[in-house]
Amino acid sequence: TPKIIRTIAELRQEIAAYRRRNPEHSTVGFVPTMGYLHEGHASLLRKSASDNGLTVLSIFVNPLQFGPNEDLDKYPRDEERDIRVAAASGTQIVFIPDVNEMYPQKTLTGVTVAEITDRLCGSSRPGHFDGVATVVTKLFNIVQPDRAYFGMKDAQQIAVITRMTQDLNIPVEIVPCPIQREADGLALSSRNVYLKPAERDQALILSKSLPKVPEWLHEGLNAAQLINRLKEEIRKEPLAVIDYVDILSYPDLSTPDGQKPLIETDCTLLIALAVKFGKTRLIDNTILNPL
Ligand code: PAJ
Repeated sequence: TPKIIRTIAELRQEIAAYRRRNPEHSTVGFVPTMGYLHEGHASLLRKSASDNGLTVLSIFVNPLQFGPNEDLDKYPRDEERDIRVAAASGTQIVFIPDVNEMYPQKTLTGVTVAEITDRLCGSSRPGHFDGVATVVTKLFNIVQPDRAYFGMKDAQQIAVITRMTQDLNIPVEIVPCPIQREADGLALSSRNVYLKPAERDQALILSKSLPKVPEWLHEGLNAAQLINRLKEEIRKEPLAVIDYVDILSYPDLSTPDGQKPLIETDCTLLIALAVKFGKTRLIDNTILNPL
């Protein structure tokens, strides 16, 4: 079973001891999470365990990245189950700090990534990516991993963290990992437990509409037309309330030429959706290379 560590000091000692015991080639892989682990998180842990000698999982529900009307207080938690999932996925260390350990004093310093954070989830959740960039920087400084594993479910988060490590010369390799889904296609998320049965059924519209995008591209649609087509498709489900549907280049998240048929675009495209069902906001996306 993995070692459970709750303080920064003990974690540093443990990782330093590991590096001393394995001076030559054993690398440290890191998987930051907010817990309530599912198969998506487990896939990151397994990838880290296969790439590295030591895998560190962190579980920390970071208050800094939640808006005032978001679900910080009721974010689902199940530490015991998380530890079992971690153990089964090859994790040696589980770091579970409390809020006071991470933020013992008022934080006067933060990390802000400009431009790529002002669209998609950044515009619906102001300040969210500042909170993510700041806590990930802190966690990177605490763990000092060689590699860190993130899911493409949160494609914009990967773009932000990757850009941050480039801009600030943070010596951590960011490893993107594919989206894990339920058998029926719904992207796994800790927040799926909030969905009522009818919402859960209708939420399938996200993963059902994204695979239609390549056909629509071949019809010669431009970005605006494709966005409208996706919105029409999603609105067929009465409980779906669209937050955003957008198409951007990836990973720089710039807007593609609006008039040109998207099929002629020579960059990688991110098609990203955020849709609310009741109080639950779900996201999903796909990456396409038209040329
Ligand atoms: P959390 O939502 O717990 O997600 C932790 C990691 O799991 C992220 O890299 C996320 O992209 C990945 N993940 C979630 N669902 C996935 C799925 N269905 N398939 C593949 N990967 C999936 O993202 C966060 O926590 C936080 O913002 C964090 C980075 C920990 C900073 O607080």
